[in-house]
Amino acid sequence: MRKKIIAGNWKMNMTPSQAVELVNTLKPLVANEEADVVFCVPAIDIVPVTEACKGTNIQVGAENMYFEESGAYTGEISPDMLTDAGVKYVVLGHSERREYFHETNADVNKKVLKALEHGITPIMCCGETLEQREQGVTMDFIRQQVKVGFQNVTADQAKTTVIAYEPIWAIGTGKTATTEQAEEVCRGIRECIAEIYDDATAAEIRIQYGGSVNAGNAAELFAQPDIDGGLVGGASLKADFGKIVNYK
Ligand code: PGA
Repeated sequence: MRKKIIAGNWKMNMTPSQAVELVNTLKPLVANEEADVVFCVPAIDIVPVTEACKGTNIQVGAENMYFEESGAYTGEISPDMLTDAGVKYVVLGHSERREYFHETNADVNKKVLKALEHGITPIMCCGETLEQREQGVTMDFIRQQVKVGFQNVTADQAKTTVIAYEPIWAIGTGKTATTEQAEEVCRGIRECIAEIYDDATAAEIRIQYGGSVNAGNAAELFAQPDIDGGLVGGASLKADFGKIVNYK
């Protein structure tokens, strides 16, 4: 039985002091023993948020990470910096990073491998544009993202990894994928993992849905057999996140 994982993706929101305030508001609302609860926060918020989350069930994640160990990469954050600060998860290959910062599948793969090497769980994002969906190439595109993203990742490592399926047209638009659309692609991703590895790996890997998840649609989405939780943007910054975490 896969444990649900419900993660907030704060994106470029919350100054350090606002972040601590938000954690203090959400702390009592997000207790749920049946799910892993993760706050993925801007790099500058990681230290104060980790401190504020001490003694709670909340785990802290980063929103990005570089694939080199250290050195002359001005502005980047290394895996050691994240682990030393207490980070357990990292969002990699979010569509906003792919679009605005030109991250490729190959870059994402390097980051996935580096995160795993350091014991940080990648939340690897994939998802199609509206145009791709209308052209009927959704699954081809996502299979490519998954296959390249998981290159050289072992089956044991893959089992611990999280994949977030986020249709780009549903992100921040209020336009959620239908439950059927979300389940269909998440099932397709699981089948792709079974092809790359085996059925046991596919049965263990956790696949989230993301894209306008809110307190009203979370229960139905998370009840699907292949949807193991959500990656939540806008609604993770509000008290509503407590309702999403306690969706049942
Ligand atoms: P949204 O963002 O919930 O605001 O649509 C999801 C995401 O981009 O992770």
